[in-house]
This record gives sequence, C-alpha cells and structure tokens, in this order.
Amino acid sequence: MMIMGGTNIGATLVMVLVALFSLLSFEPMVVEARPPTVIIVGAGMSGISAAKTLSDAGIKDILILEATDRIGGRMHKTQFAGLSVEIGANWVEGVNGAEVNPIWPMVNKLKLKTFLSDYDNLTSNTYKQAGGLYDGATSKAAFEASDELTEFTTKTSISLTAQKKEDISILAAQRLKHQVPSTPIEMAIDYYNYDYEFAEPPRVTSLQNTEPLATFANFGEDLYFVADPKGYESVVYDIAGQFLTVDKTGKITDPRLKLNKVVIEIQHSASGVIVKTEDGSLYRSAYVMVSASVGQWKILALYQFDMSVYTKIFLKFPYKFWPSGNGTEFFLYAHEKRGYYPIWQQLEREYPGANVLLVTVTDDESRRVEQQPDSETKAECMKVLQDMFGKNIPEATDILVPRWWSNKFFKGTFSNWPIGVTRYEYDQIRAPVGRVYFTGEHTSEHYNGYVHGAYLAGIDSANILINCAKRRMCKYHIMPKGT
Ligand SMILES: Cc1cc2nc3c(=O)[nH]c(=O)nc-3n(C[C@H](O)[C@H](O)[C@H](O)COP(=O)(O)OP(=O)(O)OC[C@H]3O[C@@H](n4cnc5c(N)ncnc54)[C@H](O)[C@@H]3O)c2cc1C
Ligand SMILES: *[C@@H]1O[C@H](CO)[C@@H](O)[C@H](O)[C@H]1NC(C)=O
Ligand SMILES: *[C@@H]1O[C@H](CO)[C@@H](O)[C@H](O)[C@H]1NC(C)=O
Repeated sequence: MMIMGGTNIGATLVMVLVALFSLLSFEPMVVEARPPTVIIVGAGMSGISAAKTLSDAGIKDILILEATDRIGGRMHKTQFAGLSVEIGANWVEGVNGAEVNPIWPMVNKLKLKTFLSDYDNLTSNTYKQAGGLYDGATSKAAFEASDELTEFTTKTSISLTAQKKEDISILAAQRLKHQVPSTPIEMAIDYYNYDYEFAEPPRVTSLQNTEPLATFANFGEDLYFVADPKGYESVVYDIAGQFLTVDKTGKITDPRLKLNKVVIEIQHSASGVIVKTEDGSLYRSAYVMVSASVGQWKILALYQFDMSVYTKIFLKFPYKFWPSGNGTEFFLYAHEKRGYYPIWQQLEREYPGANVLLVTVTDDESRRVEQQPDSETKAECMKVLQDMFGKNIPEATDILVPRWWSNKFFKGTFSNWPIGVTRYEYDQIRAPVGRVYFTGEHTSEHYNGYVHGAYLAGIDSANILINCAKRRMCKYHIMPKGT
C-alpha cells in the first residue's frame, strides 16, 4: 500500500516514482528469506558512505542494489590511449583551508597520485579566436575587471542574505554593476569563473547559494587533480572494503552488495518497504535509502534543481605543440560563441610524454557533442587548436568523449543550485517520506555537486535513518521557511 504522507514534496516524489514506472502486477515474489533492515539504492560515494555509517552503528543487515556492474557511480576511470583517465570526478576540490576536506586524507592514505592545479598564469595563456595570445595589457585588464566583478557579486550576495532578500542569479548581480561579460575574452574568463565550476551559465545559477561557495570557503582554494592508475574511484572501494567482505584480489564478494540490479519501483507502508528491480525481483526491508542522482529520479522536475552536464574531452597527439613547463597547465580559448571549447589543460605533469590535452565543455555544448560522432568533435577541436597554434599541428590520434547526459542511470553530471530554489525547498529533498530516505550529492547540506558532498550526505542521511531505526526518533524537522 502506498502511503502519501502529508503535503511533503517528497511524498509527491515517491508517488511520481511509482507513476513513472507504472507497475501493475507483481511477478512471483523472489524476496530474500530474511529481509534486511535497510536497502540502499545505488553504490556511488553517497550510497557506500551511508551503508558504512549504518554498519558502524550496528545496522549490518543491509542490502545495496546497484544498477551498473560496478560501484563508484560518477567516480569512474577508463582507459584512454593506454592511460587511466577519469571520465567523472577528477579533482579533490577545496584543499589547504581552515577545515580538512574529508576526501583529502582518503586520497593520501591510498597514495593516489595528485597534482595541484595551477590556474595562476591564465593571464599569459589566453588565446584569441583569430589566433595567437592576447597581449599582456589587454589580458591583464580583462582578468582584473573580472576579479572586481566577482568581488562585487560576492558582496552583493552577502548583503542580500543579511537583509533576508530574495535570491537573484549571478548574471543579475553582474547587471547591477553594469558589467555583463560580453567580449570573447570577458566571456572566456566568465565561463572559467562559473560554468567551469557549476557547468551552467551565470544566468541560471543562484547567487546566494554559490557566492561565497562553502567548498572553497571552508576547505581552501586549492584543487588537486587525481591521475592514478588505481582511479579516483578507489576511494569508494576503500570505504566499501571497511564493511563489506573483499577477496584477496580486492573484489567485493559480500552478498550484501548486488550489482546489475536496476530499481524500478519502491513501495512503502507503515510496516515496511518493497523494492522492485527490472529483472522482476522483489526485495523487502524495513527502510530504504535512495541515492540515485537527481536526473534519474526526476527530482529536478519537482524541485527545479538542475542536473548539469560537464564534459571532459581527452585528446591524444603524436607530439606536443603547446607550451609546457611551469605556468602553462591551463589555457583559455576566447571564441565569440560563449562556451565553445573554452578551457584547455595540458597534462604533461600528470601523464608525462603522453601528449594529452583535456578540453572541457558544458551544458548545451555538452548535449551537442554527446549527440554527434566523435570524429566531428575531433574536427572541431582541431580547428580550435589550429586557431590557437597555427595550421602546422599534427592531427589528434585519439579522442574520448564521455556521455553522462545520454546515460540513463545519470542523465547529467552533477546538481547545480538554480536561482529560485530556497533553503526551505532544498531541505525537503532529503526529508524522508515514511520509510523512504534520501541521500546523494544533491542532498548535501553545503556541498552539493561534489565528491565530499556525496560522502558527507551519506553520513547525514544514514544518521537520520539511524535515529529512527534505533531511537524511534522518526520525525524529521525541516527548517522553517525564511531561516
Ligand atoms: C564529469 C563529472 C565531473 C565531476 N567532477 C568533479 C570533481 O572534479 N570533483 C568533485 O568533487 N566532484 C566532481 N563531480 C561530482 C561527483 O562525481 C559527484 O558529486 C559524486 O560522485 C556523486 O555521488 P553520489 O553517490 O551522490 O551519486 P552517484 O555517483 O551517481 O551514485 C548513484 C549510484 O546509483 C546508481 N543508480 C542509478 N539509478 C539506479 C537504479 N534505478 N537502481 C539502482 N541503482 C541506480 C548509479 O549507477 C550510481 O552508481 C563530477 C561529476 C561528473 C559526472
Ligand atoms: C617549477 O615549479 C616548481 C614548484 O613551484 C619549482 O620547484 C621548479 O623549480 C620550477 N621549475 C622551473 C623550470 O622553473
Ligand atoms: C606564464 O605562461 C607563459 C606562457 O605560457 C610562460 O612563458 C611564463 O613563463 C609563465 N609564467 C609563470 C610565472 O609561470
């Protein structure tokens, strides 16, 4: 029986889930002999973090159902031209600050190779569409104007919050200073400041919830790029190995993790939960914790929370034709079309001698390149590189274009906080509905969109469930509107 508790938006969500998958009849029950206390849907960082928190609290009769054939979700390495590259999360973002980013000690414990990203010298590394670098004076003036603009928008954000005023977009804040980035170099820098972080343009991004950004304010300004054959995902495997049985080769053999189990329906009542998977299995439990990403669960339709798209295109060349050495890691391409192959990274330190470049596109450009053959994307990249470095450059021998938006289990890359969603509405995303609990980066209180957000959200959501399961404290208090 479906419980439609109260007026909570979450309740609507669960109804929608059921409606979406419109299941009419149940096949014969394939339910486990002894139902676990908690079923966790999804084995990405947040699901694994939640499961470990439950296990540490003594709730060890859990069952993790994961749609794909692996754990880690949006943390995923792949082989590209003989190298191990990350198609999902790549950086530990927010390091060397007042507080320690919880992911940083994990990465170091596993001795993953990391590289401090050096964005300092972009003034000297910004290319014109017509070719060649901008001269020092032009470039310096544009970067300084951008710094002043950011200072202004951040101050505006803080003052709006202090006055309990309504949120505005970052673009609206820029308009208040009559300084909307509009030349190619201004747009390239603006893209670097915002889209490169949030994967959506300032027009849609919330000012109040992104400036200042908790990740950098609390954990520090530095970003470390993970480039290690073990993969960034080994952090998730390490957490999993702390509570699931693993064999000598490091493979998880624990029966409490089931891979290739696509959850298509969740039903709940006062007495328990039934979870149905695509293969017709039914699993019973006392509680369920849903960690699948926003795009997939249509939360975005309900909460207007955006699932953005961020695409990391890797290209390999027979030899280097770009500058290398200190102060050259990142370079910008200032095209008249905002967001057209704007941010480049040469990976000489990370993959010495491999002659690999990484270019990032987002949003509409991501959706466009996902739908065209890689050969076309490669041709576009070659044209851009010829603009920057001249016609006499070698053809790329290999290209990798990840497709997160087209992937039905993700439908995008990470959540972005759009203008118009208040803290009150946001808080409802993680509010449990009866016996259904929610986690995932999009439910993180301060760090949505990040690996550390997913990790911390897993702990927080698990603790809400533990309070109910062990202490009968099942009421979840949503912060009142306007606080
Ligand atoms: C391209 C890209 C770049 C990024 N860059 C960074 C970065 O540099 N630094 C950073 O900190 N963060 C970055 N992120 C964000 C970070 O990867 C995520 O915030 C984090 O990994 C999300 O973890 P999660 O557990 O919330 O979700 P997920 O990792 O998406 O886990 C959810 C799991 O649920 C599974 N699932 C989905 N549907 C079902 C279903 N129906 N039934 C069962 N299982 C299901 C999925 O397969 C997945 O394993 C990036 C993400 C992407 C995609
Ligand atoms: C490059 O930077 C590193 C670290 O800042 C420094 O140790 C090294 O000497 C620099 N190399 C050159 C060639 O300047
Ligand atoms: C900045 O980059 C330019 C061009 O790529 C390079 O020549 C210069 O040495 C770099 N400066 C610093 C301080 O690293």
